[in-house]
Amino acid sequence: MIYLKSKEEIDKMRSAAQVVVEALEKLKENVVPGVSTWDLDRMAEELAIKKGAKPAFKGYSNYPASVCFAVNDEVVHGIPSKKKILKEGDIVGLDFGVSLEGYYGDSAITVPVGDVSSLAQKLLAVTKESLNRGIAEAYPGNRLFDISGAIQTYVEEEGFSIVRSFVGHGIGRKLHEDPQVPNFVPENGSHGKGIKLKPGMVIAIEPMVNVGRPDIKILNDGWTAVTVDGTLSAHFEHTVAVTDEGPVVLTQ
Ligand code: MF3
Ligand code: CO
Repeated sequence: MIYLKSKEEIDKMRSAAQVVVEALEKLKENVVPGVSTWDLDRMAEELAIKKGAKPAFKGYSNYPASVCFAVNDEVVHGIPSKKKILKEGDIVGLDFGVSLEGYYGDSAITVPVGDVSSLAQKLLAVTKESLNRGIAEAYPGNRLFDISGAIQTYVEEEGFSIVRSFVGHGIGRKLHEDPQVPNFVPENGSHGKGIKLKPGMVIAIEPMVNVGRPDIKILNDGWTAVTVDGTLSAHFEHTVAVTDEGPVVLTQ
């Protein structure tokens, strides 16, 4: 069941999304060699609470923290730790969501720690651009898998692979609503090109891109997803409203 949002609801979602944007900017400024993911998690949570918002991930399916991290070959959902210290040359995914007055916003960026390899730089650029290409397809009358296809085609042309095990999602009064938003065109052709996009749909588009194979496994902590082949992975996410004026990025 897909809930369409009114203009007023989309404005509320933008307010939540703006808290996420501020928090991610703060984290980005503080991503330097020597900082722990624990310290970054504290900063995001404190900022959200100061703004009257509630961290969306803490307690969700028993996730124990506010921010999901992903360092190097980690894909998503890394739990912060005082022992996880970022070092020069790492890349780190920062995924954060909040609810404010009953509405959710969700966004992720992956950033370099100091100077990183040219391969890492290319991975960050390609993953970010793939999200932008997906967003550009999010207009009324287009179909859901036009978004998925734009992301997948671009990523594979650049020689990288799209993770299949996690997908984007509708978002609104809940963190995860229908529809699921895959970053690849599902193989089972019976889906056609997916549902028709309508004004008032709000979706979180979140490509996860691996340098090598798309396969992932979950570590013993029950959360951290890593690439099976040990190659680097990156993740970018925006909360996007489908409107009569085209796609509107709320986490901008
Ligand atoms: N951005 C991710 C998502 O939308 C983060 C969820 S992690 C969890 O699914 F901890 F909340 F589960
Ligand atoms: Co999300």
